[in-house]
Amino acid sequence: MRRALIAANWKMHLGRRDDALRFVRRIRHSVGQIEGAEVVLCPPFTVLPELGEVLRRSAIALGAQNMHWSESGAFTGEIGPSMLSGLCRYVILGHSERRATGSADESDEAINRKVHSALGAGLVPIVCLGETRTQREGGETDAVLRRQVSAALAGLDGAEVGHCVLAYEPIWAIGSGRPATPVEANRTISLSLRGFLAHRFGEAVAREPRVLYGGSVDAGNIEAFMGMPEIDGALVGGASLDPGFVELVRRAAGTRRTAD
Ligand code: 13P
Repeated sequence: MRRALIAANWKMHLGRRDDALRFVRRIRHSVGQIEGAEVVLCPPFTVLPELGEVLRRSAIALGAQNMHWSESGAFTGEIGPSMLSGLCRYVILGHSERRATGSADESDEAINRKVHSALGAGLVPIVCLGETRTQREGGETDAVLRRQVSAALAGLDGAEVGHCVLAYEPIWAIGSGRPATPVEANRTISLSLRGFLAHRFGEAVAREPRVLYGGSVDAGNIEAFMGMPEIDGALVGGASLDPGFVELVRRAAGTRRTAD
């Protein structure tokens, strides 16, 4: 059975020590008591070490928001895999805000290199995939997602694929207050992501990775997403930045269906 996962992508928020510590101290006890969903906070790099201390005995895990594929080298401003592996368990890779659609112009090939390096360093990659509004309206969603997932996971074996987390984040739904409908997200994940995995790696492998939905998830709609058989959790942006996140996690854990 796939364990439910709620990952908080703080993006470029709460990156100052005092703000991050205040927020985490406020939610950690309540979130830590909730059973039935794993919770990962992905703050800016600047506060990872400190939050690691505060959450040392907590069930809440940490993740980074990006990573370079190289261990070290002349890469100004970058952070390598082994710099992170002592600080966190997860790393978000290929977020649309870092792809060509975002601000960092990251290619599918770069994301694939990062996925390999993250797994090599013992990190769990949360690989983000999603189509733009134009692609959606042009009927290209399935082709775009298959291309992205195929490129991101190229060269992995079945066991490694099973270890990854995928996050379906339609770009038009991010930060818009207008999420995909749960039925639509479930159908897309089933058809384009697990369908691709079944074709490439076989049915058994296709059932392994956890797949999250992301894009305007909040405490009011999380139950509907968690009620879908192909959706194992959420990647939450804006709604992870205030104390209402505790209620979101509680509802997610309470609704989780028993998958396969
Ligand atoms: P919002 O939840 O703010 O729409 O952001 C989603 C997201 O990009 C998470 O990675």
